[in-house]
Amino acid sequence: MPFSRGFDMPAVGFGTYLIPNAETSVAVSRALHAGYRHVDTAEAYGNEEGVGEGIRDASAALGLVREDVFVTTKLWPGNPAWGQPAKSRDATVAALEASLERLGLDYVDLYLIHAPFAGDGRLDQWRALVSLRDRGMARAVGVSNYSIDHIREIEEAGLPLPDANQIELHPWSQKPELVSYLQAKGILPIAYSSLVPLSTWRAVAGQDSAKTDEMTAEGASGDSPFKKLAAKYSVSESQILLRWAIQRGFAVLPKSTNPERMRQNLDLFSFEIDTSDMDSLARMDRGDGVAWAVGDPTKAD
Ligand SMILES: NC(=O)c1ccc[n+]([C@@H]2O[C@H](COP(=O)([O-])OP(=O)(O)OC[C@H]3O[C@@H](n4cnc5c(N)ncnc54)[C@H](OP(=O)(O)O)[C@@H]3O)[C@@H](O)[C@H]2O)c1
Repeated sequence: MPFSRGFDMPAVGFGTYLIPNAETSVAVSRALHAGYRHVDTAEAYGNEEGVGEGIRDASAALGLVREDVFVTTKLWPGNPAWGQPAKSRDATVAALEASLERLGLDYVDLYLIHAPFAGDGRLDQWRALVSLRDRGMARAVGVSNYSIDHIREIEEAGLPLPDANQIELHPWSQKPELVSYLQAKGILPIAYSSLVPLSTWRAVAGQDSAKTDEMTAEGASGDSPFKKLAAKYSVSESQILLRWAIQRGFAVLPKSTNPERMRQNLDLFSFEIDTSDMDSLARMDRGDGVAWAVGDPTKAD
């Protein structure tokens, strides 16, 4: 099921954060064989070469053409607060050229600013993205981890609004005000880290986040509300979390290197969560997300 907002994007994409470059080609190729037609990467993930290779391998085996696979990558904007200069307009253009080179593509379907870290340089980065769309190097352009204020800044400058905002969204972090604002403005919310409430979410050592041990124990408990819903609908907890997002009108980007989980995470259209369960899920919001180890990136100015 694609989302159509002036650009068609498959509602379920394959996430690649934390997949090392050397393992990415196989993972992406497996995902495309499983049926994914949308892959999400970023300059900061260090795996764009593997993504490109995986797409080429699977396309040759499956007879896919470029238009069959929707590819998203992201500009690392720099972050003066971390001692990294904000990328200028020219550096932003050069960053997409370098990403395309690593991916082995001549355009991406969606190019995002990874986070609102550039301070005074934020609007120049956005102007650069709009020019990249005009030049055909990105079919659609958007932002990630932007708050309402960050998007208003674009609006007040009289610039075109982003096509999408990729943000952490799951029943524990529902961001109702931001989501209503995005939907009112016709900006597609793309959910990342949908699986945070699972005990298996980034369970491998070194996969840092702000998720606490307490939250992990809760996700593992036998009476977790997601376990109960999974039993009721005869699906997995992961499918409940992803289906919740789809029913809220968000695209999702589940990441897994496990072929069975990859398949499961794509199988979201054979059941529907009923209204009373959607209402109870709506009451589980706890505020800010946990996917970034340093805290909520939308809070940076
Ligand atoms: N824009 C941003 O700032 C931003 C931030 C974070 C993420 N993202 C994007 O969003 C994608 C998804 O987010 P994410 O990687 O944080 O997390 P996620 O997709 O919500 O969850 C991935 C974790 O859940 C496990 N998992 C996956 N499917 C499962 C299943 N069916 N049952 C049980 N466990 C399962 C995975 O382990 P296995 O691999 O072992 O299965 C992994 O530990 C990223 O890969 C990236 O592309 C963007």
